[in-house]
Amino acid sequence: QIPDGCAFVIFGVTGDLTHRLVIPALYNLAESNLLPEKFCVVGITRKEMSSEDLRASLMHGLRKFATRPVNEDIADKLLYCVTAVSADPSDPSSFDRLRERLEKLEANRNTGGNRLFYLATPPDAFAPISTELGRSGLLKEDGGAWRRLVVEKPFGTDLASAKALNEHLLSIVSEHSLYRIDHYLGKETVQNILVLRFSNGMFEPIWNREHIDHIQITVDEKLGVAHRGSFYDKTGALRDMVPNHLFQLLSLVAMEPPSHFNAHSVRSAKAEVLAAIQQQSEEEALRNSVRGQYTAGKVGDTEIGDYRSVQDVDLASNTETYAALKLTIDNWRWAGVPFYLRTGKALGAKRTEVAIKFKQAPFAMFRCTPIEELSQNYLVIGIEPVEGIALQFNTKIPGPSIAIDGVEMTFRYKDYFKVAPSNGYETLLHDCMIGDNILFQRADGVEAGWEAVQPFLDAWEKAGAEGLQSYPAGSNGPEDADALLARDGRNWREPS
Ligand code: BG6
Repeated sequence: QIPDGCAFVIFGVTGDLTHRLVIPALYNLAESNLLPEKFCVVGITRKEMSSEDLRASLMHGLRKFATRPVNEDIADKLLYCVTAVSADPSDPSSFDRLRERLEKLEANRNTGGNRLFYLATPPDAFAPISTELGRSGLLKEDGGAWRRLVVEKPFGTDLASAKALNEHLLSIVSEHSLYRIDHYLGKETVQNILVLRFSNGMFEPIWNREHIDHIQITVDEKLGVAHRGSFYDKTGALRDMVPNHLFQLLSLVAMEPPSHFNAHSVRSAKAEVLAAIQQQSEEEALRNSVRGQYTAGKVGDTEIGDYRSVQDVDLASNTETYAALKLTIDNWRWAGVPFYLRTGKALGAKRTEVAIKFKQAPFAMFRCTPIEELSQNYLVIGIEPVEGIALQFNTKIPGPSIAIDGVEMTFRYKDYFKVAPSNGYETLLHDCMIGDNILFQRADGVEAGWEAVQPFLDAWEKAGAEGLQSYPAGSNGPEDADALLARDGRNWREPS
């Protein structure tokens, strides 16, 4: 579907996100003929900047971050649509001037008055910018034209701040016009979880506590914190990854089947399962979690220094760069099935996956291998870098006597589909322009996520340095993460 004409207004246009992801994604959409014919990009800068300089800077970013070879004609046509306009929320009159400039551009490009305001800024700018957009009337829908507000992550830093931000934004735009981005939902492999579960008849009957022993969600990263010390030291692994990315995976895997494939049904089902995550007391949260911080080490051939030596990180920082949690979901489908989540920086390998571990066969018919030694039955949804699905099961080793070994049946996207490389933002930006909110978070989902992690945040803050483990960069994370499962007689899945 080609979106209707619109003005795509970017706050934070000189920043890393715009250069690295937004413009390359718009380029990919342009190459696939998925941008509106009547289109303009308005880049908002705090200080005066010429459109020529802005275009040159975006072109430089595009050449560096494009996921496909850059076709000069397509890039020129896209950048020709870009105009720089300065506006600063501390100077309300600049937003009135922005409205006048925008109205002229809209008339020029014949975009029909449809506007998308994209806040690719640090989170402390969300409230002041949206306030001014509301006050100046830029977001007011009139004459049949739509107005939409797109907000990047992080959405709040805890339950109270997420609620306050929701309340503020919803006093300016309706839920339907608000698009809270979580880039995990732009990943094909993540969207496919819905299709895997709900377009096949064979998984749903066994997708419950009768047949599933537990679920593991892993988001391991090789990169350290690098130049993001000032943001990361205030944030930590739990806030940075769990209530958003890991909970998107959890909710897609654990939600009830929605009755329709539309934004209302899908987002309601997701919010409901997040709200069913059992609230833990602070003592339980300490018992059911592990946090770690990396020390110097080698990831592959790359030396990574101690986390505390990263620029802008406190020398005595207690911020976690690794988090592992055990959660349970209080509903009929999942009662008693643990969900183990882990994520960390500077680990030995990049791996993002959901592993569903099925219950063992009920008794050992084959004397050759005791039941506890049989290989485990996992369904593994590989998100990155392995994109695909694998099923692990036991099979007979060919030969005159019965001997058993674990094998794997795999599906890899790359073996079946040829898709032009993308950065994951294309679908999200396209959906904002066509007005489809399925892949965006709703207020209740965001708040349910923060509610589930709040006891961990509180307990860790009180505990300070106590209980913070260290792990060398390049390792698998703190040893206690293994103990978290071992005490339940389980273990993290080893990559096959
Ligand atoms: C971002 C976090 O939201 O997600 C980063 O702020 C993290 O710290 C990144 O590295 C991970 O995304 P992906 O797509 O590489 O798994």
